[in-house]
Amino acid sequence: MTAPTTAPTHGDIDLSARSFWAKHPDERDQAFAVLRRENPVPWSRPAESDLLPPELNTHGFWSLTKQEDIRMASRHPEIFSSAQGITMEDFAPEAREVAQSFIAMDAPRHAQLRGITMDAFKPKNMRRLESWIRGHARDLVTEMSHLGEGDFVELVSVKLPARIFGSFFGLPEGEIRDQATNAAQRLLGWTDPRVRGDQSELELFMGAVMDLHAVAAQLIPQRRAEPGEDLLTWMVQAEFDGKKMTDDELKAFFVLLAVASNDTTRHASAQAIYAFSRFPDQKALLVEDIEGRIDPAVEEVLRWSSPLLHMRRTATQDVTVRGSEIKAGDKVVLWYISGNRDEDVFTDPFTFDIARNPNPHIAFGGGGPHFCLGGALARTMLRSLLTEVYTRIPDICAPQPEFQIANFINGINRLPATWTPEKR
Ligand code: HEM
Repeated sequence: MTAPTTAPTHGDIDLSARSFWAKHPDERDQAFAVLRRENPVPWSRPAESDLLPPELNTHGFWSLTKQEDIRMASRHPEIFSSAQGITMEDFAPEAREVAQSFIAMDAPRHAQLRGITMDAFKPKNMRRLESWIRGHARDLVTEMSHLGEGDFVELVSVKLPARIFGSFFGLPEGEIRDQATNAAQRLLGWTDPRVRGDQSELELFMGAVMDLHAVAAQLIPQRRAEPGEDLLTWMVQAEFDGKKMTDDELKAFFVLLAVASNDTTRHASAQAIYAFSRFPDQKALLVEDIEGRIDPAVEEVLRWSSPLLHMRRTATQDVTVRGSEIKAGDKVVLWYISGNRDEDVFTDPFTFDIARNPNPHIAFGGGGPHFCLGGALARTMLRSLLTEVYTRIPDICAPQPEFQIANFINGINRLPATWTPEKR
């Protein structure tokens, strides 16, 4: 893909409109390129949303589209707080509390709760798990490789995180694991009528949250009575200042980890197969030397797809960014998808180039205290899966995804694929 030529002017760009998020990603990229050039810190009206009644949905938001500004805001949590919510759309405070846990907190509580999980997700622990994760990826490719065609999302993208995180949390196989992964994978789809069906946005969101709470409510007393080797046991036993987490805190914590780990990696794996289908020259390069090229290829998939499109902060004081006067209490949205195409940071930012070096993308955030906890795990999953897929069914082709209509996650609902079946 080349840089946009027939772009709109910045006055035509309405980041608050659902219709903007239903456009093809290339069109959205063009719009962000215009903003970076002409109005890098624009103000938008309140996001179109049914999560709050219209009389309460009254707050517009600022956008940061340049990578430098996103990094700056990420590293100054005292000015850009997470405690009022992390999405450009507002939720009622009760909905935030039951679903978002420490991602929507500031110091000191944020650091305490985050600290509980830090060890579990350290890169060295992930490397230990690599062969186990690779085993899951191998099994899934074995289950689908003889078919020759199918929806990659259904066959692989949904299942890999479900299996890995199911084991991580010690969720027993069967109904309870299915209930948790299904809820974790639909929760962020509130903006897409094809995911919601006849439910309202809030019904879909709260229904998924409550399903996850029900799973946690069942497992928490079990882990107290019979501790295991899993993350849930770790959470139940953790103490700060001589106090354990309450059941409500544990449930919200469970929702955050289940969603943060499942949905991001699910869409990232679909985005990877789509990218390599769309740019066959890059796939040929990868297939020629998978072991030598897989690490930079994964980084480029993360940059190019930005599986999380944005995070939001709220200003705690007046602050001016590139001439835009942000007032205390204003919402500020950090557009990773835009920072990952920033012409001041990347040469040919619209080109998918697996040899890109350096590749200072911000797919996992712009640094600072909320930086993604699961980056090492996500990288390991993508590395394992892409290695298995392109070693065994290298001609897999899936150029026509059904994109999710979403402003938070860069989702793919379906990814019809074809490949030469592997002989059994
Ligand atoms: C490709 C996959 C993933 C992407 C693109 C991604 C991206 C992100 C981003 C952009 C943030 C916010 C950073 C900020 O606000 O500064 C974040 C936070 C977080 N991520 Fe990930 N993530 C991925 C996978 C995972 C996985 C596998 C886990 C595993 C549990 C995870 C757990 C978290 C948690 C717990 C937070 C909140 C951290 C905090 O507030 O301290 N993520 N992620």
